[in-house]
Amino acid sequence: MLNKSIGFIGGGRITRIFIERMIKTDKLPPKVIVSDTNDAVLSELKQKFPVIEKGNNIDAAGQELVIVSLHPPVFADVMREVKEFIKKDSLLLSLAPKITIAKISEMLNGFDRIIRMNPNSPSIIGEGFNPVVFAEGISSKTKNEMKDLFAVFGNSPEVKESLLETYAVITAMGPTYLQFQFEKISEMAVSFGISGEEVKNTISKMVEGAVQLWANSNYSFEEVYNMVPVKPMLQDEETIKNIYNTRLNEINNKLKS
Ligand SMILES: NC(=O)c1ccc[n+]([C@@H]2O[C@H](COP(=O)([O-])OP(=O)(O)OC[C@H]3O[C@@H](n4cnc5c(N)ncnc54)[C@H](OP(=O)(O)O)[C@@H]3O)[C@@H](O)[C@H]2O)c1
Repeated sequence: MLNKSIGFIGGGRITRIFIERMIKTDKLPPKVIVSDTNDAVLSELKQKFPVIEKGNNIDAAGQELVIVSLHPPVFADVMREVKEFIKKDSLLLSLAPKITIAKISEMLNGFDRIIRMNPNSPSIIGEGFNPVVFAEGISSKTKNEMKDLFAVFGNSPEVKESLLETYAVITAMGPTYLQFQFEKISEMAVSFGISGEEVKNTISKMVEGAVQLWANSNYSFEEVYNMVPVKPMLQDEETIKNIYNTRLNEINNKLKS
């Protein structure tokens, strides 16, 4: 399985992440076709990864593993366009939120070799958290083969399908809640005298330590929090928590509507 071909329908951000990681880990099958309506995106991808072939949606749909990297509004139209061209033994991996396995199967006249995943960007360095759901009929042998492939991107726990949109809010978008803060703290550190070479190591070690203390120690949140007496951000914490309330509820409601 998966020693022959992958077709990506949609050649945007997450496709680039997957291809880059598969190339780095030598897991790219010999034939990879990518389709995208935006020719500039496709040409840029081809320039970065000459090993891939540019194709149309139908070419991509004819491969052994078909990875659908499209946003929900265009999903149904594309499924209509390609449904006759998906081979019965192929697998279709959808990265789109909101569209269930049952709905995809209906769009594809009952084709049921369907997997859904909600990946995140650290997959590009093999540190992703990528919850996955397999359609009921997929054999454990196939599941294991797919899990072997997914392992190059990071963790892929099997989750309930009803939770995939929640993971989209928490783990797929999660890096964007934090990374700008790492960048800002780094900028401040440099302005206070830490060298440019040291700053990423300094901030990442601090963040890793804080995460381990919060997640993997026996101390309660209050104990962890009170280990530091001076909290320069204290008077802003409510504001920041309220921003989380507003923004995460907004996106959660949108994904679940
Ligand atoms: N990026 C992530 O970290 C991430 C994480 C989890 C899940 N996802 C999911 O993965 C899917 C793709 O996300 P993305 O971040 O890769 O989006 P993206 O960067 O916008 O890529 C999607 C690509 O598909 C193209 N496209 C639009 N209509 C098409 C059609 N009919 N046929 C072929 N290609 C078409 C788009 O072109 P235009 O721009 O011209 O429309 C765009 O280049 C989404 O459902 C997203 O929710 C992404």
